[in-house]
Amino acid sequence: MINPQPTRISIRRLLFRWLLLPLVLLLGLATVIGYPIALQPATAAYDWVLIDTAQSLTRLINAKRDAGPELLSSSADILLRTDQFDRIYYSVHDLRGKLLTGDAHLPPPPIRLLDAGEYLYDGKIDGETIRVAAMRVNLRGVEAIVQVAETTVKRSELTTRILTGMIASEVVLVIVVVVLMLFGIGKGLEPLERLRSEIEARSHRDLRPVPPEHAPIEVRPVVSALNDLLRQLELALRSQQEFVANAAHQLRTPLAGLRMQVELGLQQQDPAEYRRVLTALGQSTERAVHLANQLLMLARAEVGFHRVRAMQVLDLRQVVEEVAGNLMPAAISKKIDLGLELQLARIHGDSFLMAELLSNLIDNAIAYTPAGGRITVTTTTDAGFVVLQVEDDGIGIPETERELVFRRFYRINGSSGEGCGLGLAIVQEIAHLHGGTVVISNPSSGNGTLVSVRIPGAA
Ligand SMILES: Nc1ncnc2c1ncn2[C@@H]1O[C@H](COP(=O)(O)OP(=O)(O)OP(=O)(O)O)[C@@H](O)[C@H]1O
Ligand SMILES: [Mg+2]
Repeated sequence: MINPQPTRISIRRLLFRWLLLPLVLLLGLATVIGYPIALQPATAAYDWVLIDTAQSLTRLINAKRDAGPELLSSSADILLRTDQFDRIYYSVHDLRGKLLTGDAHLPPPPIRLLDAGEYLYDGKIDGETIRVAAMRVNLRGVEAIVQVAETTVKRSELTTRILTGMIASEVVLVIVVVVLMLFGIGKGLEPLERLRSEIEARSHRDLRPVPPEHAPIEVRPVVSALNDLLRQLELALRSQQEFVANAAHQLRTPLAGLRMQVELGLQQQDPAEYRRVLTALGQSTERAVHLANQLLMLARAEVGFHRVRAMQVLDLRQVVEEVAGNLMPAAISKKIDLGLELQLARIHGDSFLMAELLSNLIDNAIAYTPAGGRITVTTTTDAGFVVLQVEDDGIGIPETERELVFRRFYRINGSSGEGCGLGLAIVQEIAHLHGGTVVISNPSSGNGTLVSVRIPGAA
């Protein structure tokens, strides 16, 4: 079934969307995960420097030789506080918390420092974030806590640089990937483009199959489906051409006959002769009209698949009654008993075409059954199918001919009547159109012909 709503699918766009979007998300995720991992060693280096400074402070105090009251000389104080970017704080407390030297307001370590060893933590001073290193040391024989802290200008700077570095490299990566993808998708779709131009370059008469090896493996099923369609089209086209040639040939003969008869008539002087020729002319014209009608009917049934959508649920009983009513005079004039045995028979169908099918079958039965014969039309249902049968007790169709009579223009040698050999071809075409089949067999009574049409029933 063809999708009634045209979709605008672009493989290029689909690939792009499904590759690029996840890629960008993945890179974002990589940044979120990678950033702290990249940051950790960098900030650790600053932490070590902070610890080194605390140790230097301890050594400076222990190494002070002069006997001044302050623990640290002012030159050492200046040295300790020198930093290009950050403000440095330090303090020394005894274990009871008394400030021995340095800055008074440094936040104390959040845990009690029991042994020698350093502890690093974040804190605030005057509203500014600081990083603090604290350690317990021995100052000239006295246990004390030494703290060194610095603001976080360097660290923030480093953080920003790492982050911008990562983002910049990812942006470059995404741009490179987009370019590669556009190129790659273009390359990948090239075989399709080649296929397209190969098909486009064909004329509408060129129905040769597309060589599957010219198509990439992924679209070979499409190509083989297309080839199937081309094959069917080719067959249909050939049969149509044959039909047209045949029809032209079949029409030419009766039309030439008509012209001859007209010429013959024009030469006649005797009114009685004149009349005889005109009567023959009338019969020939009728035959030609019948042939033209049969030809048109066949053509109509053939292209009928366009009409399948117009099919509707119909009861075959009504069609049978109508057609039998129309043909009743012909049956009566041949003293043939035309009987109907009808059961409900609902199908999805085209009533016009079904009437044509039936009219050809009853017409045959009347034509090929001697006067005084008997014709029965029945409708029954069987396993979801509707079965329409036309039975006569006429001359019958030999078994060897039962396939052949469905061919166009085929008539059994020596057949009576004015037929042109298209009736059963039309019947078969219409039955197929309705998803059904036609079979010729012997009637249960023995003599004659039984034509059975089986069509899927409508629920
Ligand atoms: N009921 C039948 N009994 C005996 N022979 C039949 C019967 N129906 C068809 N045939 C034979 O099959 C042949 C083909 O039938 P078909 O209806 O296709 O063509 P036609 O009757 O000759 O011509 P048309 O129906 O196109 O006017 C007939 O010529 C006839 O010999
Ligand atoms: Mg016929």
